[in-house]
Amino acid sequence: MDAFLVRGGGPLIGAVRVSGAKNSALKLLAAALLAPGRSVIRNVPDIADIAVMGKVLEHLGVGVDARDGVLTLDVGDEVGDETPAHLVSRLRASIVVLGPLLARRGHVRVATPGGCNLGNRAIDLHLSGLARMGAEISFGADYVEARTGGLAGADIELPYASVGATENLLMAAVTAAGTTRIGNAAREPEIVDLVAFLRRMGADVCGEGSDEIVVTGVGALRPADHTVVGDRIEAGTYAVAAALTGGTIAVDGVDPGHLRMVLSKLRAVGARVDERADGVTVSAQAGLRATDIVTLPYPGFPTDLGAQFLVLLSQAYGTSMLTENVFDARFSVLAELTRMGADISLESHHAVVRGPRTLSGAEVRATDLRAGAALVLAGLVADGEAVVHDAHHIDRGYTDFAARLRALGGDVRRVDVPVGAAVR
Ligand code: UD1
Repeated sequence: MDAFLVRGGGPLIGAVRVSGAKNSALKLLAAALLAPGRSVIRNVPDIADIAVMGKVLEHLGVGVDARDGVLTLDVGDEVGDETPAHLVSRLRASIVVLGPLLARRGHVRVATPGGCNLGNRAIDLHLSGLARMGAEISFGADYVEARTGGLAGADIELPYASVGATENLLMAAVTAAGTTRIGNAAREPEIVDLVAFLRRMGADVCGEGSDEIVVTGVGALRPADHTVVGDRIEAGTYAVAAALTGGTIAVDGVDPGHLRMVLSKLRAVGARVDERADGVTVSAQAGLRATDIVTLPYPGFPTDLGAQFLVLLSQAYGTSMLTENVFDARFSVLAELTRMGADISLESHHAVVRGPRTLSGAEVRATDLRAGAALVLAGLVADGEAVVHDAHHIDRGYTDFAARLRALGGDVRRVDVPVGAAVR
């Protein structure tokens, strides 16, 4: 058993520097497969998901050296074309090796993805896009396979602005023959970061950050050196911690431009937000106000901060509504928050939050990465001690979460306890 033990207390005060974005770094690791030679990726977060992705690359024959947030990837002239089930089942994002491996090998076989249990996370858009570029797709019970005699540029209109599909198609297109247009492309900052890396590798891409990306295939790519963009979700989590506890936290290492909608919601609940070039300072006093939130693809409010904001809204005066539009199983956190005393009801994909309610320490379970972080935040303002089980979910995405919260004055400990033993 692994858990976070959290005791509610006073305001969190201080400064925290966020890591590079998990959701960018994972894709950059995959992109490195496109070019033989030594690529260097800096500002890589020290989290479990990156460790798993490193193992996926090692399995494919890549030399991986991780030191102080710098990953050196030695990609050989030969790379593998199969990813093993035991790794892929732990990391859904590893599906992004589809595009680069198909581009390099003309064949790829990927075990069925795992990762966060967020409902039916389909990959149909990845596959139909690759098929438009000339891939033949086939399935087994627990794998998907793609092969091609050579990828060709195509005109692809995504029916939904999927982050993962946009990334896979981008990486497949950079060395395809001719021009690929991805319409209704995802606009997330992590896509922009991926394109910046691909461009350093010699790719010809334009339009990233808009809903139309155009890729002109080049013959071959070269390895590159790149620094990962700051993690806007980690930053948003600490910003919520400041507002929630009535504290003041300077969150550094993130572009406030990537948090526009998040900062506007923090202001709407009554927090004070000061923006700097490389970060934000968030503070709040008692008397938070209810507000409504709708999760949407970027630049809308990120689904990955929905659970953390539910905790914040549970402490705000009035009735708030959070509408989840991106994933169908995001609300597993509701039952756990309710156990801690939050008053939240679910109507279809709308969570209605009535506040403020006094939270109390309880034994709860991190059902996924962001739900886990939200429960730790809830523990920071709860009476008594909360035990957040299944801490490994939180380790997937937050570098030193307990230590960073402790440095801000939070009473948070990460424990590993054998099954059957008491938690203390
Ligand atoms: C990425 C992020 C995740 C974030 C999400 C949305 C990573 C590792 N994960 O996930 O943290 O919450 O973006 O910002 O970067 N869909 C389909 N068919 C597809 C692809 C997606 O139906 O082929 C659906 C999914 O089931 C989901 C929605 O589209 O309901 C969003 O998925 P997508 O944008 O692809 O997110 P991910 O890349 O999986």
